[in-house]
Amino acid sequence: MKYFQRRKLLKFFFIFVIFGGIVGQAVYILIKFFLPKANYGPPQRIKIGAPHKFSDGPNFLSEHQIFVIKEGNKFHAISSVCTHLGCNVTVKKLTGPKTVTVSGKEIEEKWEFHCPCHGSSFYGDGTPYTGPAPSPLPAFKLSVSTVERKLIVDKGSEVSADWRLTV
Ligand code: FES
Repeated sequence: MKYFQRRKLLKFFFIFVIFGGIVGQAVYILIKFFLPKANYGPPQRIKIGAPHKFSDGPNFLSEHQIFVIKEGNKFHAISSVCTHLGCNVTVKKLTGPKTVTVSGKEIEEKWEFHCPCHGSSFYGDGTPYTGPAPSPLPAFKLSVSTVERKLIVDKGSEVSADWRLTV
C-alpha cells in the first residue's frame, strides 16, 4: 500500500516539475516577446575620423554633440551638451593661456566653454564656474579602430577630465 502511495506521489511530483517547467518557459518567452530588443537611441560608439584630420585645439562635431580636442598627439573628447538644460555650449579661445584652480589642482587652459542659453561657463576641462549648470561637461573615452586607424568616441563610457588618448 505504502509502495503505491510513494509511486503516486513521485508520479505527481514529476508531472508537477515538468508542467512547471513548461509553464515557466512559456511565461519567460511571453515576457521576452513584449520587452523591446532594439535600441532606438543614437549609437554610443561612433567612428569620428582619422586623427590627422583634426586640427589642434577643440574641434566641434555638431552631429555627435562633442568637442574632440587635439593637443599634439594627445586627444580627448568632451560633451557639448550643457548640463543645465541641454543646449550646445560654444568654445571661446582665450587670447593667452590662463591658469585656473579646479578642485585644488592648477590647470592651464587655452579655451573655455560657454552656454548661450542661461550663461553657464565651463573651464577648458569642462568644470562649470558660473551659471546654473550643476555639473561638468562629461568627458568620453576615445580609442583607435584597429583596421582603419580611425578615432572612436564611446559616449557610453565616461572618463575623468584629465584622461587623454595618445596616438
Ligand atoms: S542650458 Fe546651459 S545654462 Fe541653461
